[in-house]
Amino acid sequence: MKPEILEKIEYYKQLGHVVPKLSSIKTEEQIEGIRKSGVINTGVLDYVASKIKAGVSTQDIDDWVTEYTEGHGAICADFHYEGYPKHVCVSIDDVVCHGIPSSKEILREGMIVNVDVSTILDGYFSDASRMFIIGETTKEKQRLVEVTKQCLDIGAEQIKPYGFIGDIGYAIEQHANRNGYKVVREFGGHGVGLQFHEEPWVGHFGKKNTGMLIVPGMVFTIEPMINMRKSGIRVSALDGWTVYTKDKLPSAQWEHTFLATEEGFEILTY
Ligand code: MF3
Ligand code: CO
Repeated sequence: MKPEILEKIEYYKQLGHVVPKLSSIKTEEQIEGIRKSGVINTGVLDYVASKIKAGVSTQDIDDWVTEYTEGHGAICADFHYEGYPKHVCVSIDDVVCHGIPSSKEILREGMIVNVDVSTILDGYFSDASRMFIIGETTKEKQRLVEVTKQCLDIGAEQIKPYGFIGDIGYAIEQHANRNGYKVVREFGGHGVGLQFHEEPWVGHFGKKNTGMLIVPGMVFTIEPMINMRKSGIRVSALDGWTVYTKDKLPSAQWEHTFLATEEGFEILTY
């Protein structure tokens, strides 16, 4: 650890800010491991992108994810994570997140689909998700998908050395609300790398200059879930996983794993 980094952390701590544990600041070796994991994770999403279309089932997507991941010597982090039964989350239209793949669920023209992939390679975790539009969809759903991507990008721009995690959420919520949308509050991004979910929790709402200090070497996701009208969600009583919008309107999500750097950030899942 560079002494100037330790000094800065101490300085912000004295001012009363929440600062990361030193173990949250990854070593070069750990960053290299997470980067390699991210390359596989991106490969999985590219593979899904090349095959996803109307008529396939969400179980087909689970099969592709498993085949590609294991074919590259890696492990699907979702599988059996806290009892999750499948290898990937596939969330369609009013499913906010944690959609469980099924051979009975068939993709149809006009659906908007989030595929959320998390990979473990040599013990290192990476995590990213993308939206796919099946054929053509409505202008409203297309705009939701686009604005949600902008929310991710605008949030990422807030990753600056000695900025704050709250800056990210603040920027995201502003952009969502400007477009008439609402941010889901129950789920956030998270530290990632040595485990699936580490500190800090990265809310997609927040106040500027609050929350944990951002220090070069931290690795975390940003993964805004944006609802068309109201932020309310409900979790399926049937499977205990699938998260729906309360108002049954569509929701979208995009996610990357980011490394905070001296210059700003690097996307590890690009
Ligand atoms: N990939 C999700 C995330 O971004 C976590 C999914 S947990 C699972 O944090 F168990 F549902 F797979
Ligand atoms: Co995540």
